[in-house]
Amino acid sequence: MFKCLVIAGTPGVGKTSVARIIAEKVGGLQVDLSELVVSEGLYEYFDDQTGSYVIDEARVSRRVKEICSGGRPVVVATHYPEVLDEVIVDKVAVLRLNPVVLWDRLRSRGWSDRKVAENVMAEVLSVVLSNAISKFGVERVVEVDTTGRSIIEVADEVLEKVSKGYTQEKFIDWLNTVDPGFLEELERVLSNEQET
Ligand SMILES: Nc1ncnc2c1ncn2[C@@H]1O[C@H](COP(=O)(O)OP(=O)(O)O)[C@@H](O)[C@H]1O
Ligand SMILES: [Mg+2]
Repeated sequence: MFKCLVIAGTPGVGKTSVARIIAEKVGGLQVDLSELVVSEGLYEYFDDQTGSYVIDEARVSRRVKEICSGGRPVVVATHYPEVLDEVIVDKVAVLRLNPVVLWDRLRSRGWSDRKVAENVMAEVLSVVLSNAISKFGVERVVEVDTTGRSIIEVADEVLEKVSKGYTQEKFIDWLNTVDPGFLEELERVLSNEQET
């Protein structure tokens, strides 16, 4: 059905959980890109300012290409799909989550308001989706709204869309659905320079 399926989306939308289920269902291998980067040292340095690794894109891309050439189907979870080699990616499924729900989910990870707001704003603005479409083309990208749905339901919808070669014609735009007061609150948090 596929050699390399990418499960993409903003942190917290459920990529790791969904990728695990899909890999189980198809007897494939699950790769969590951020875990792979750390466990195999595929980064340039650790950025103290952002508290995250600056990845070595060329090595990550090469390594994933190698894993995907192993014969088993591979399901890659990442919020950074555009670092992957265009040639090996069959399909990118971008998981979406209502920003208000995402806010609560990221907050419960113990992240600061600012870090939560940055990620929620990325979801509002469809950043991961846009990057995936720019890199892989709209015909290779499908989207699944995970809001109010179980991990299994989401995994099934991804698999159905992938197996049917579904073409996504309409994509979510949270800007039109989310309460303007919530967006103002996000902007307020983001404009507060002192908070880290
Ligand atoms: N569809 C869902 N419904 C409810 N909770 C979910 C769902 N998907 C993921 N979660 C929960 O949200 C949290 C983040 O999920 P995770 O798979 O780690 O997301 P990601 O890999 O995108 O950061 C986990 O606690 C997970 O159990
Ligand atoms: Mg994850």
